Amino acid sequence: MTTPPSTTWHHLSSDWINWADRLAPAAEKINRHMLEATDLEGLAASRNGAPLDVLDLASGVGEPAFSFARALGGSSHSSANIAGISGHVTATDIVPDMCDGLAERAAEEEIANITALPANMEKLPFSDQSFDIVSCRFGVMFCDDPDLALREAHRVLRPGGRAVFMVWAPLVDNPLFAAMDAILGNILGIGFDQAGLDPFSFGNVDQSMNRLEDAGFTGIEATSHNPAGRIPETAAFWKPQMDMLFGNILRDASDMDMGAINAAMFETLSPYIEDGHFQVPICFHVLSAKRT
Ligand SMILES: C[S@@+](CC[C@H](N)C(=O)[O-])C[C@H]1O[C@@H](n2cnc3c(N)ncnc32)[C@H](O)[C@@H]1O
Repeated sequence: MTTPPSTTWHHLSSDWINWADRLAPAAEKINRHMLEATDLEGLAASRNGAPLDVLDLASGVGEPAFSFARALGGSSHSSANIAGISGHVTATDIVPDMCDGLAERAAEEEIANITALPANMEKLPFSDQSFDIVSCRFGVMFCDDPDLALREAHRVLRPGGRAVFMVWAPLVDNPLFAAMDAILGNILGIGFDQAGLDPFSFGNVDQSMNRLEDAGFTGIEATSHNPAGRIPETAAFWKPQMDMLFGNILRDASDMDMGAINAAMFETLSPYIEDGHFQVPICFHVLSAKRT
């Protein structure tokens, strides 16, 4: 039986909160591509140095909202502030518990320029033309109607504003997810399809660029990335991603099934071990566009 996506995420907020701080350094690294794609300096100059309003959609517990907030000078503990640029980030997610987790993390880091608000990105509670930047990392593909969400992103952007979406490349280019899907499917009978998740529907760059164009965007560009972390082979490095996508199901799995899952994940990903370290690439695209 397939679970609707909205239900799935409501059961995963505790997993996202649990892993967020440990994953933050890796998140900050890949978020850099989103910040670059929005050209914050150029945008700030075109607004005569006025503070920038950023809307982050499907923020989960804070990425890339925190990276934008730091770049805009919201954290006195961070050196990520871009000189002469300021602004505010409105971080949103359809799951209120994700927003609460995000707000708590922002308070802990004393990030002052971020507000968390529950919102469905298919029906945004904001007026037309209210933001300079709309960002969304690994979120748009989980909407019931992603094209409606793209039109909403376009609607709330000011003329000259920019949108940036980070999306997964196809499953075949993401060996971690391919292994997870096959192994959980074999052992528990639940992969992405059965969990109601379709992470790869924006994997085809040309099709995704066409979808942005159909939503009204111009100046559409795409870059592709495939970084590989270097993680000791003794670490079950798949655990965070597996928990954050399937935690609600894994909580009910027996110890024997969990043992079999971990052994099969190690075995399947062992070709990626070099010098005692897993080096498994993750492949994603960054799509950026303007509202004219
Ligand atoms: C893979 S997570 C990404 C979270 C975060 N952007 C990150 O990269 O760490 C997907 C997020 O999309 C949210 N989501 C799913 N459908 C949504 C919708 N229609 N509107 C807003 N958020 C949604 C989920 O609650 C979940 O937090």
